[in-house]
Amino acid sequence: MKCVVITGSARGFGLCQAKKFKELGFNVVISDVNEVNLNKALEELNAINNEKTKAIAVKCDVTKESDVENLYLEAEKAFGQVGVWINNAGVNSPDKPVYELTDKEVAFILDVDLKGTIYGSKVAFKHMKEQGFGKIYNVEGYGSNDAMMLGLTMYGTAKRAVTYFTRSLAKESEVLTKGKVAVCRLAPGIMITDFITHANGDKTKINLNEKTKKIYNILGDYPETIVDYVVPRMIENTKNDKQILWLTNRRAFGRFLTAGFKKRDFFAEK
Ligand SMILES: NC(=O)c1ccc[n+]([C@@H]2O[C@H](COP(=O)([O-])OP(=O)(O)OC[C@H]3O[C@@H](n4cnc5c(N)ncnc54)[C@H](O)[C@@H]3O)[C@@H](O)[C@H]2O)c1
Repeated sequence: MKCVVITGSARGFGLCQAKKFKELGFNVVISDVNEVNLNKALEELNAINNEKTKAIAVKCDVTKESDVENLYLEAEKAFGQVGVWINNAGVNSPDKPVYELTDKEVAFILDVDLKGTIYGSKVAFKHMKEQGFGKIYNVEGYGSNDAMMLGLTMYGTAKRAVTYFTRSLAKESEVLTKGKVAVCRLAPGIMITDFITHANGDKTKINLNEKTKKIYNILGDYPETIVDYVVPRMIENTKNDKQILWLTNRRAFGRFLTAGFKKRDFFAEK
């Protein structure tokens, strides 16, 4: 039976991916640093396709390599082998210029977004190389394609590095496993989740300005929409160094073209 492990999957994009994978016949291992959300998420997952698939939840802080190693071993213990590993855990930077960020804030973003992805990739690669197959997906984000703007410099720095790291690891995999361990990128575009309005691991509220809201309304989507597109492609993919991309230039162009007719407002008072 196929098994997927997803970090930072107690809510948002991670949880939506977990639900989709389960619906499509995978055993699922969710994990997060937030145990309360993790337990709630497991209940939700248990209601999906439960005759054919199973889900477990393992607490894991991706900034601790020992936690990440434990996550892999727990997944293996429950389901035998891990077919897909997704480094999804991430935090947003506070909407501040770099010179105003504290040491702690700088370290926090790099630790979770970059180091967490490195630990997850390292652990998964080591085990998958041994088992002779597997797929690792690292989640890209703003900055991965060199985009830049005030307030997102540290986040963009981390995500740009995630992209470089993932592509370079894919090269290593070509040499070390002939690409049998596929090291890939997942680019979900702009998602309407708690992430966009919270930073520092939810401790800081970000008040989006009207210009940003406008862009999000045009280009953004709920994660439920995005997983319908990306998850089947992640399952189907067998190529090393593949990027699964939701917000293509074509899609973005189409959104701007039709923005005048299709009014969307994700931020309206409910
Ligand atoms: N929302 C967007 O617009 C957007 C766009 C592109 C990429 N992304 C990326 O997608 C991924 C998921 O984002 P999301 O929008 O679902 O955010 P989210 O904040 O809803 O979910 C992130 C999850 O990661 C968990 N997490 C944080 N620190 C952790 C740690 N140290 N160890 C384990 N888990 C930890 C959080 O508890 C949370 O459950 C992130 O990597 C993010 O950078 C988001």
